[in-house]
Amino acid sequence: MDILINGAGGNHPLGTTSNPFFQMEDLNNTAEGFKTFFDLDPKGIEFTFNLNFLGGTLIPTQVFATDMVGRDGCSVLNISSMNAFTPLTKIPAYSGAKAAVSNFTQWLAVHFSKVGIRVNAIAPGFFLTDQNRALLTNDDGSATPRGEQIISQTPMGRYGTPADLVSTVNWLCDDGAAFITGIVVPIDGGFSAYSGV
Ligand SMILES: NC(=O)c1ccc[n+]([C@@H]2O[C@H](COP(=O)([O-])OP(=O)(O)OC[C@H]3O[C@@H](n4cnc5c(N)ncnc54)[C@H](O)[C@@H]3O)[C@@H](O)[C@H]2O)c1
Repeated sequence: MDILINGAGGNHPLGTTSNPFFQMEDLNNTAEGFKTFFDLDPKGIEFTFNLNFLGGTLIPTQVFATDMVGRDGCSVLNISSMNAFTPLTKIPAYSGAKAAVSNFTQWLAVHFSKVGIRVNAIAPGFFLTDQNRALLTNDDGSATPRGEQIISQTPMGRYGTPADLVSTVNWLCDDGAAFITGIVVPIDGGFSAYSGV
């Protein structure tokens, strides 16, 4: 049994807007580094799609799944995100790239269904890691406004921890899930179920 987990991912500042909503006055905002939708740099979008989708998921699967074809019990696990279901504000590149990962998970599950390779994904909610720590926490460890917003939208009221991922990863990669392919499992403390009201 071989398992491939496509875990590399992340965002790029050039694919991120400064504000969640576009306002008329943004057109006259000349502050250094201020970015509207119209300032998004294709290089940032390209970087993010390359990292999460092409280089982080599709190409490694081409490389490693070659040895899985025709053998029983092999599976691929992709890492999607809450952004794939409903995009978070400010990060269209990352959201689109993770949507591509979820979509590709379904596509590849169907494509490999005759040759013994299952393909599933997890969609973590919010976990404090190197890619988001500076966005969600201040130097003193207190929450940034965005961090507060995320916790307030997570019914369980906390960030996830690595231990929260383990049982789902084991389940999806184990033979006990032999009839499960093409699903994306949220691990999010209720974030995706909550309307905010
Ligand atoms: N942290 C979260 O809240 C969260 C939520 C949903 C999904 N994710 C996803 O989980 C995965 C792991 O992220 P994380 O939160 O642990 O962040 P992280 O920044 O700690 O880990 C990202 C990993 O990707 C690797 N990586 C980045 N660019 C690479 C490249 N070009 N080639 C090879 N490896 C590269 C890094 O070395 C690092 O190990 C990512 O796919 C991320 O998008 C994270």
